[in-house]
Amino acid sequence: MPSSIMEKFESMAYGPAPEDATEVLRWLDAHNRRFGHFINGNWNAPSSTTFETRNPATGELLATVAQGSATDVGAAVAAAQAALPAWQALTGHQRARYLYAFARQVQKHARKLAVLETLDNGKPIRESRDIDIPLVARHFYYHAGWAQLLGPLDETGFTGEDFRGYTPVGVVGQIIPWNFPLLMFAWKVAPALAAGCTVVIKPAEYTPLTALLMAEIADEIGLPTGVLNVINGKGETGAALASHPGLNKVAFTGSTEVGRLIRKETASSAKKLSLELGGKSPYIVFDDADLDSAVEGLVDGIWFNQGQVCCAGSRLLVQERVAEKLYDKIRARMSVLRVGSPLDKAIDIGAIADRVQYDRIEQYIQTGIQEGATCWQPELPMPERGLFLRPTLLTGVAPASTVAQEEIFGPVLAAMTFRTPAEAVELANNTSYGLAACIWSENINVALDVAAQVKAGVVWVNATNLFDAACGFGGYRESGYGREGGKEGMYEYLQPAWLGGAGQDGEPVALPEPGPGSEFAAPDAAQALRHDLLDAAIDRTVKHYIGGKQVRPDSGYSFPVAGADGRLVGHAPLGNRKDIRNAVEAARGAAAKWARQTAHGRAQVLYYLAENLVQRREEIVRKLAAFVGESQAAVEFDTAVERTFSYAAWTDKFEGSVHNPPMRMVAMAMHEAIGTVAVLAGDEAPLLGLFSLLLPAVAMGNTVVAVPGERAATLIGELYQVFDTSDLPGGVVNLVAGKPMELGKTLAEHDDVDAIWSFRDLSASAMVKAASIGNLKQVWTNEGRAVDWFDPAQGEGRWYLRHATQVKNIWVPYGE
Ligand code: NAI
Ligand code: MG
Repeated sequence: MPSSIMEKFESMAYGPAPEDATEVLRWLDAHNRRFGHFINGNWNAPSSTTFETRNPATGELLATVAQGSATDVGAAVAAAQAALPAWQALTGHQRARYLYAFARQVQKHARKLAVLETLDNGKPIRESRDIDIPLVARHFYYHAGWAQLLGPLDETGFTGEDFRGYTPVGVVGQIIPWNFPLLMFAWKVAPALAAGCTVVIKPAEYTPLTALLMAEIADEIGLPTGVLNVINGKGETGAALASHPGLNKVAFTGSTEVGRLIRKETASSAKKLSLELGGKSPYIVFDDADLDSAVEGLVDGIWFNQGQVCCAGSRLLVQERVAEKLYDKIRARMSVLRVGSPLDKAIDIGAIADRVQYDRIEQYIQTGIQEGATCWQPELPMPERGLFLRPTLLTGVAPASTVAQEEIFGPVLAAMTFRTPAEAVELANNTSYGLAACIWSENINVALDVAAQVKAGVVWVNATNLFDAACGFGGYRESGYGREGGKEGMYEYLQPAWLGGAGQDGEPVALPEPGPGSEFAAPDAAQALRHDLLDAAIDRTVKHYIGGKQVRPDSGYSFPVAGADGRLVGHAPLGNRKDIRNAVEAARGAAAKWARQTAHGRAQVLYYLAENLVQRREEIVRKLAAFVGESQAAVEFDTAVERTFSYAAWTDKFEGSVHNPPMRMVAMAMHEAIGTVAVLAGDEAPLLGLFSLLLPAVAMGNTVVAVPGERAATLIGELYQVFDTSDLPGGVVNLVAGKPMELGKTLAEHDDVDAIWSFRDLSASAMVKAASIGNLKQVWTNEGRAVDWFDPAQGEGRWYLRHATQVKNIWVPYGE
């Protein structure tokens, strides 16, 4: 440290500039440094079981906090349930005023909140003061706006223009992590309260304090008691909350591992679920990029919040020609990063939130070195105590190595090179995650072309780690599902009124399970002959429809399907795992091309399909009539034709939007296909039910493997001809008949299926949820409730289209 003023003037070195923590320490002391839970507007005395929260920069004990038991969780959920009717009965304007009051209080207490956050988490005050807390306030403002615009709620749902016909999901359990404690609190609480839900939230055990200060603020602004409840505790408390039967929705941010547990835990319930999980986001630098800006971006991309950021640009992919030059610049920049007391206003890198995380990161660095990467760390003055880590650059990282694949969640950048844009895309997508990506290039055409191909929910072009309440955030693939922020984030807390709103959804309508019975035709020659004869008399043998072809079932078995009068109508093929695997392969193979097809092109195919369907009206109606009677058959057929027209119409109209975040940026919210969607259809309206699910998926550019109900399974022969003559590329629609529970399980477990929809009974809903945890595919079910497919308000439209797409926000700066 230079001593004289002259020396200081010469070196321009920073002196210490600590933020004053007195006010916050006084607040902690006023609570005797002990905290209970905030339930029904009361502070419950700390229970006998407690845990400690410490300042990771110094190791000092900040407070002792009650560890929530199942009973505490129960009390909090009961309070939220009791508060729900009155909270929903408020007008949107009244709820907006509470959210506005939150926003104002956050601004008023900004300094206190920032200091408390920094003490508890170890993040630099510069970040908590300039990024976290302003974004928290912005989130409450933005959602005050949605509360206002939702308008009053009546029995038809909200009556405002934008979410007309939707109701609040009800009581919500929320579990948040420690990396952005207050920001994640805002991301969860603001949309829930705006939507008319009540909340029980559990902050992370490393960082419970700012949520408790927010609970105090809730009290101050006179938020009705029970609307917001804060329960403290570790993983067990989180598990008790997620599994509580009184919840209508669970929202989770944290590790993919716990996300899987929660998916499984909630499978047998009708709880809505959103998961915001980990990432291993690529940071792609092309040789024409402004390298100095890219380096500056990296500081925010991987050293921001000590790298404990789910969307951190943790994988640097650099075009080979400029790799060494970029590494030199990165090393030079790393050498002037300042690691130290998080309360110091001139510090870049603070402390790691907890010893467990610290050890994990160190272990990853060692693994990287063992697996052949070159490790470089700058010689920086480091604090003598506390959980401080040096910023770390790993170069020469092999794409398949641990540090290239697993989330390190620390200040560690894993670098590798590529030659062509195609290789960059391949490397970028060579991960099971899909949260975010950064693309640096001065060529906007290349950048946007790559942005379209990267599988990620957020793409920053020549920028990094930008957030705004108006722009949805969330992942593709194993980074989770659901979005936070924006209009799409609001939908996570709403559901169509006709589906049964909060408090009135206790009675799911059970559908019959119409799967094939136990009588199966044996595959031996004699039987086959007998069946062929039988089929000749009644109908021809029905095969699966896979990859644009009629395919015999692998088992060789078929099953008889009876009409309403009990008489045999026809046979359907009995599919097995192998048929499903073939169908998924066909769907997968067709996916990229179909998604790239223009919306106009897809619409043309659907119109043509409707036209060809009409050609076969007579035979299809005749068969349908045997199942549902003549009058339904005719109406059902005509409605299916009309629905096909509707989705042809929607194909080029369900478009994304352009956001204007409060900076010189646009964020283009694109509606992208999910990929390969598996569909388990019911059988109440054999043709219409199946079409109502197939069509939106196909219209939005997905490919489909559908298991029709047993009645529709007898129509595969007719449908094959319709699809075949409609220019629908082979593999876009695949129909495999058989036992829906068995085939559905194979589909739910299949890693090449990106989403699974079940519109059968409750057991099918539960099964697909539980079986989908492998690749965390998106799951959408009717929760065993009947859908009136004849009513367009229930059977078609945006609700379907939203589930058939995922939003990718591409952020593009403008100006120099
Ligand atoms: P975690 O997933 O265990 O913790 C997140 C939250 O979940 C905390 O509130 C915790 O108490 C709660 N929780 C833990 N077990 C639970 C259970 N069985 N049921 C319900 N709630 C439960 O994450 P952890 O252990 O703190 O960090 C491990 C790794 O996870 C990190 O190194 C990082 O890779 C990743 N992570 C990702 C985050 C993100 O923002 N996507 C945030 C935090 C961690
Ligand atoms: Mg702590």
